[in-house]
Amino acid sequence: MLPLAAFLVHCFPLALGHYDICKSWVTSGDSPSWEYHACQPKPMFMKGYAMVKVEPPGITCGDPAEYFCTHENPYLCSDECDAANRDLAHPPRLMFDKEEDGLATYWQSVTWKRYPEPLIANITLSWNKSIELTDDIVVTFEYGRPTMMVLEKSLDHGKTWHPYQFYADDCMEAFGMMSNKIRELTTDNAKRVQCTEEYSRWAGSKKEKNVRFDVRERFAIFAGPDLRKMENLYMAMERVKGLKEFFTLTDLRIRLLRPALGGTYVQRDNLKKYFYAISNIEVIARCKCNLHASSCNFRDGSLQCECEHNTTGQDCGRCKKNFHTKFWRAGSYNPAPRGSPNSCTQAGTILDIVSPTPKPESTTLRKAHMPDSSAYHHEKYISTPTKANPILRISDPPPMKEVKENTAIQVSTIPPVLETKLQHREIPEKIRAAPPIHKELTLTPSSGRKHSKKGTYE
Ligand SMILES: *[C@@H]1O[C@H](CO)[C@@H](O)[C@H](O)[C@H]1NC(C)=O
Ligand SMILES: *[C@@H]1O[C@H](CO)[C@@H](O)[C@H](O)[C@H]1NC(C)=O
Ligand SMILES: *[C@@H]1O[C@H](CO)[C@@H](O)[C@H](O)[C@H]1NC(C)=O
Repeated sequence: MLPLAAFLVHCFPLALGHYDICKSWVTSGDSPSWEYHACQPKPMFMKGYAMVKVEPPGITCGDPAEYFCTHENPYLCSDECDAANRDLAHPPRLMFDKEEDGLATYWQSVTWKRYPEPLIANITLSWNKSIELTDDIVVTFEYGRPTMMVLEKSLDHGKTWHPYQFYADDCMEAFGMMSNKIRELTTDNAKRVQCTEEYSRWAGSKKEKNVRFDVRERFAIFAGPDLRKMENLYMAMERVKGLKEFFTLTDLRIRLLRPALGGTYVQRDNLKKYFYAISNIEVIARCKCNLHASSCNFRDGSLQCECEHNTTGQDCGRCKKNFHTKFWRAGSYNPAPRGSPNSCTQAGTILDIVSPTPKPESTTLRKAHMPDSSAYHHEKYISTPTKANPILRISDPPPMKEVKENTAIQVSTIPPVLETKLQHREIPEKIRAAPPIHKELTLTPSSGRKHSKKGTYE
């Protein structure tokens, strides 16, 4: 067997027919190996692309100028916030700037002088684009973390909002909820919305500054503690309903409901030490492109997927005009032969080896028997998982009316062997030609040759 790595080192991403394949070096267990998957846009620091709204009006300090104290120094209240003075102003943009020389610049709210009226503020980030979280959301508070806060998200550009996580120093008192730890979540409840006390307790305002939405810990439920088995996570995302959506959003809202109290009750005689101050909001995510794009760029005021596979739209969420032979589907994370880019096609072309789409005219079918170049690439670049007989299971409902529900069709794939040349007859014809599936299909997994005449299209 030729060393596979030698083949692959130079090609990143690999062009496999119409499918860009990316690979990552996976070092779990004793034998490191490459893992192959469809390319996706890179994770980006999303704060740079967000539109930001701070509500209610007048919540930002400095207009009029006011003095404030801190929990560390409650009786020395000489610090001033003044919107008219550049050095003393704390506008919202300071949550998104670069911190230079370790000097934090921050947005700051007015103080809680109107107590007992709640001191509340909403900070809303809008991307005008669906994005998929790839790392923790981290909000950094100077002068103490809030004792009550809700993180909310929207999937529909701010029309509807859903809680993402509740934060309080006492979940029961604040929200009537039990406090839970993220690391106690399991595969069954990985997308549960919960309340945590982990990021709200008083620990000194300079010591614990971050409030997190733990994305990595949730990924780890599927991908293992060091996120080495990301493939398992992506498999789960394709399989578990709502899991992918859980990490997807177009807008994010931080609802600040009660500021840091310094570990004690509100002291009415010194309300100038209660306020919010945020120096950073880190959101690391990638554009949602439905696995139909490997890059995403900021154009015309918003992020745009560079759609491939004859798809179009902001998220590559539909087929291009005149490419509707197949119904639109998201690409699969695993590349062929285990998965498929699910390209949109024009009438008369067959692009995907594993296409479940019927092609009624027999003239087209004949053509499709010929191996095309992509089939060759296939063989060259895809490693055989050590298990014998890789089986592709098309259990998604094939886009055909005739197919009865729950008909899982097993389709064989080309046994990818490096040394041998691809033999025409080894291409499972039934797959490429996509016969009417309602006729009983008995395809064996290992070889196309074994196929009986049963299930042919004549
Ligand atoms: C903050 O957002 C919530 C909904 O997400 C809304 O009900 C509330 O009125 C907003 N508060 C302010 C001050 O805008
Ligand atoms: C949002 O994005 C769409 C598509 O790119 C664009 O047409 C629209 O003008 C954008 N809206 C805003 C408010 O930027
Ligand atoms: C898009 O469709 C055209 C015409 O059917 C085809 O030639 C081309 O290869 C397709 N591209 C991809 C990436 O599927």
